[in-house]
Amino acid sequence: MSRIRRFSIGNPINTEAVVQNLPEAKGEFPYFTRIQSTESSGINLQETMEQKDYLLYPLEPETRIYGLGENIRGINKRGWIYESNCTDDPNHTEDRRSLYGAHNFFVVDGQETFGVFLDYPGKLTLDMGYERMDELRITPEDWNLDLYILEGDSIREIVKAFRQLIGRSYIPPRWAFGFGQSRWGYQSAEDIREVVKGYRDHGIPLDSVYLDIDYMEDFKDFTVNQERFPDFRKFVEEMKQEHIHLVPIIDAGVKTEQGYDVYEEGLEHGYFCKDETGKEFTGAVWPGKVHFPDVLNREARNWFGRKYQFLLEQGIEGFWNDMNEPAIFYSEKNLESVMEKIKSIESRNLDMWETFALKDLVNGLANNPEDYKSFYHDMDGRKIRHDKVHNLYGFGMTRAAGEAFEELEPEKRILIFSRSSYIGMHRYGGIWMGDNQSWWSHLLMNLKMLPSLNMCGFLYTGADLGGFGSDVTEDLLLRWLALGIFTPLMRNHAALGTREQECYRFTQTETFRNLIGIRYGLMPYLYSEYMKAALGNEMLFQPLAFVYPEDEHAKEVEDQLLLGESIMIAPVYTQNAGGRYVYLPEPMKLVRLKSMEQTETEILEQGHYYIEIPLDEVVFFIRPEKIVPYTDSGQYMDALEGQELKFLHFVTERAEYEWYQDDGYGKDYENPVHSKKLVVEVSAADKG
Ligand code: GLC
Repeated sequence: MSRIRRFSIGNPINTEAVVQNLPEAKGEFPYFTRIQSTESSGINLQETMEQKDYLLYPLEPETRIYGLGENIRGINKRGWIYESNCTDDPNHTEDRRSLYGAHNFFVVDGQETFGVFLDYPGKLTLDMGYERMDELRITPEDWNLDLYILEGDSIREIVKAFRQLIGRSYIPPRWAFGFGQSRWGYQSAEDIREVVKGYRDHGIPLDSVYLDIDYMEDFKDFTVNQERFPDFRKFVEEMKQEHIHLVPIIDAGVKTEQGYDVYEEGLEHGYFCKDETGKEFTGAVWPGKVHFPDVLNREARNWFGRKYQFLLEQGIEGFWNDMNEPAIFYSEKNLESVMEKIKSIESRNLDMWETFALKDLVNGLANNPEDYKSFYHDMDGRKIRHDKVHNLYGFGMTRAAGEAFEELEPEKRILIFSRSSYIGMHRYGGIWMGDNQSWWSHLLMNLKMLPSLNMCGFLYTGADLGGFGSDVTEDLLLRWLALGIFTPLMRNHAALGTREQECYRFTQTETFRNLIGIRYGLMPYLYSEYMKAALGNEMLFQPLAFVYPEDEHAKEVEDQLLLGESIMIAPVYTQNAGGRYVYLPEPMKLVRLKSMEQTETEILEQGHYYIEIPLDEVVFFIRPEKIVPYTDSGQYMDALEGQELKFLHFVTERAEYEWYQDDGYGKDYENPVHSKKLVVEVSAADKG
């Protein structure tokens, strides 16, 4: 049995994160005490004298905290201070407090177990035992929020209740589970053809190629560069013949340029965010100066969403929304004042402090908190300063697209995922984990983020495999793919100027072919589990702690995950390692794959093991009385159609599996024809 109570504090802004309208609970909220404080809430000097009330929950030594979606650090979030404040920051190091998303849901698991959702679109500080190891403190910027308290018999039940509250997760078209190649720097149709040829020539499966900002004309949204992509419609069709989907990027900022229709229409109808004086706010991103569409305004959102039609009409079936925190390289106003200050010290002999100040001045141009306080939204007639609703911008942009797709393509699923997000956006699209680096630590971070994101409704997700920034090594890419074959979004993406990291550029092309081939072979299982998780409000990836709550060892495990009902994954995430230690909380069947055709299995009892995992193998574990349906591999998703279904299993007598299969495009998800019961029975003879 689960129970959710909503406590309304002050005058909350309606974020539309939830889909159930709960009546306000009576009386005091449980678990937390509101502390009125004039003390410092941090070590920051500016904060010393500020009045910062916070919600306090005392932490026992054994209490664990799970959730917070897209974030750094552990699956157990305890021991750090996080800020919900969507930020464009490519340095995902341990000292950061926020990444691109704001996902204010967590479960406290100690002597008491309960869930907390803070529906608050401004900046929120979540101190999970940082200031004091024995205190959880929640500090919003102002006291206008909905506090939801969730209770249930298990963490799984609490999470499920939360997921029901926030509504069904986004379901992409099935082709979007295929492998995708991306790179910032593919300049032309020729470049894309070369990538596709590279993959096909080496027999490495591929379903999509991503178009980064270079496909546009001068980085203008909803344009295509005619010189470098002549006859785009024909090119999209040509790629489809090769079973390749092109997935263009869309950025939040709209270039300010006379004669550019999106700019002119937005201006004419007043659809852009305005400054204090009512004039369009001007920031800068890739194209130089831009205005930001007011995606928190229904009409403006509708208008912006319909712009995707330009690309849909040319055969495009998927998009990625970027820079929607929104990222601001500089604002027109701030740049002017910075330039003036610089001019004023032009001929001076700068001392140390002045040099530091100069550096801060220039570094402070990008994503400056003061800029976020200097423009406004019109939320259905209410003028709201951006910083109060900052965390809703990416949600609004992706919702714009999602709502428009419903109208423009009512029968068909369209791929959409975003960089920035807030809970609620999970109904409209997926997310990728932003600008990571080609670091081994980021492979592990990718794994740790998966269950936290699933708790918050984000099921369609994945990291830039191989790492976005820095130069990848062949072994890092192979190991990362060995995790990526299990994540719903499986995309290799890299930044301009980094080492080229398309799989065919390395020496072990056969291994790349086999590893990615395993993804395709396992698709009957991976797709079924995704659909069941989405339709049943379940997590696709669970920490061991959620499944084996009585097992003290399992609770500590931060580098293995349960994926769906049948398997546990334990990828290698350290360089030069020939394997790794794995904990089995119950007997399991180890499955070792070189390819879908080369499989070895071994039954292992509960316990700790060192498992050898060479670079060219994928290992996973099947739980007792569970089944994994699979097929032979294919070069692309369409090639899997009609393939004979086979089974990997750890069945001693008889087990059943619900296999979900549909056309991958339609939206009649709940139709029972999509679910088939598969049975594996082991005869006495087989058992010997
Ligand atoms: C941002 C995105 C990245 C993209 C780049 C250029 O950094 O996060 O994925 O490649 O912009 O568009």
